[in-house]
Amino acid sequence: MELAPRVCLLSLPLLLLLGLSAGATVDLPPDEGKEVWDYVTVRKDAHMFWWLYYATSPCKNFTELPLVMWLQGGPGGSSTGFGNFEEIGPLDCDLKPRKTTWLQSANLLFVDNPVGTGFSYVSKDGEYAKDLSTVASDMMVLLQSFFSCRPEFQTIPFYIFSESYGGKMAAGIALELHKAIQQGTIKCNFSGVALGDSWISPVDSVLSWGPYLYSISLLDDQGLAEVSQVAEQVLDAVDKGLYKEATQLWGKAEMVIEQNTDGVNFYNILTKTAPMSTMKSSLEFTQSHLVQLYQRHVRHLNRDDLNQLMNGPIRTKLKIIPKDCSDLGCDCEGSCQLLSAENNLTASVAAWKSFLLQKSTADF
Ligand SMILES: *[C@@H]1O[C@H](CO)[C@@H](O)[C@H](O)[C@H]1NC(C)=O
Ligand SMILES: *[C@@H]1O[C@H](CO)[C@@H](O)[C@H](O)[C@H]1NC(C)=O
Ligand SMILES: *[C@@H]1O[C@H](CO)[C@@H](O)[C@H](O)[C@H]1NC(C)=O
Repeated sequence: MELAPRVCLLSLPLLLLLGLSAGATVDLPPDEGKEVWDYVTVRKDAHMFWWLYYATSPCKNFTELPLVMWLQGGPGGSSTGFGNFEEIGPLDCDLKPRKTTWLQSANLLFVDNPVGTGFSYVSKDGEYAKDLSTVASDMMVLLQSFFSCRPEFQTIPFYIFSESYGGKMAAGIALELHKAIQQGTIKCNFSGVALGDSWISPVDSVLSWGPYLYSISLLDDQGLAEVSQVAEQVLDAVDKGLYKEATQLWGKAEMVIEQNTDGVNFYNILTKTAPMSTMKSSLEFTQSHLVQLYQRHVRHLNRDDLNQLMNGPIRTKLKIIPKDCSDLGCDCEGSCQLLSAENNLTASVAAWKSFLLQKSTADF
């Protein structure tokens, strides 16, 4: 089993710019794969954590398999936690091998994105990413560091897989990565983007909820009328460019749905929402609407058992997580800042269009 090079041959100014730390490498038993992880300082006082697993195919070298970067949603869901241990990584939440891990078919790069998520942290208040362009430029610093330190991955096909709000961030990231490759600042064989239940056209999602839930009898006529009414208000606010109001009304639409469906779970319509996010009896909402959105869309990504795993055995194994990086998916504040400033409800469709226009002239 080989060890990954611990020191990367970057010029000194670049090293200073990137603020690379020494990193850590651990080899598991031979039948397991090799894994490496580290922080990259992406801006002054903003530190991003990544965790790479080399593919463990029985018949192929890792260099013959693609590299997949996994972006969680939220914003505020941790890729190295939720995506890794609850979805596609080699081990599940009980640290038992997962039969269906993607690691048999790809090298997996989990990144806690944006800063303020999982083990990525800011060392000074106010340094959270507050818009899509900062999310993308932070990720460019990370990818520049990653690929220049690991030339063996520069020619392997690279895919960005994203889930939920990750789909919105993937738009900005893909566009910037494409530009960086063309400009020669990042060497990477960027081969595709995959979107899972992506939050890229929120108003279309909001408008579809009522008819969908009605078609499967989770809403009756009266319920459909109430949901449609508030969905139209969201559309109206977006059309007028009143994005803050549109975001509040989106939260209200979800509340109306929960009240009319006895708390249907937005992530699995066959179940009910957990007690922590049960609706209020009144439809009144205030500035705390961002906290409510956080509760509905981010809290379930940071369940207690996952939190204990990440802050217990995993933190001990990784060794490099600072004590004061509070906990997994720690920052409601970070999530809410991004939601409030950037939940533009149109911006990511615009970013995707711009990406596709650029890409259509290239060999994608
Ligand atoms: C796998 O690829 C690496 C990098 O190209 C190479 O160093 C190594 O020898 C290969 N291993 C096998 C078993 O072919
Ligand atoms: C990208 O990956 C494909 C598939 O392995 C390969 O054919 C191609 O040569 C690679 N391109 C670059 C620039 O490395
Ligand atoms: C929302 O996004 C659109 C399209 O990218 C942009 O023109 C507009 O300025 C943004 N509005 C806000 C409030 O950020």
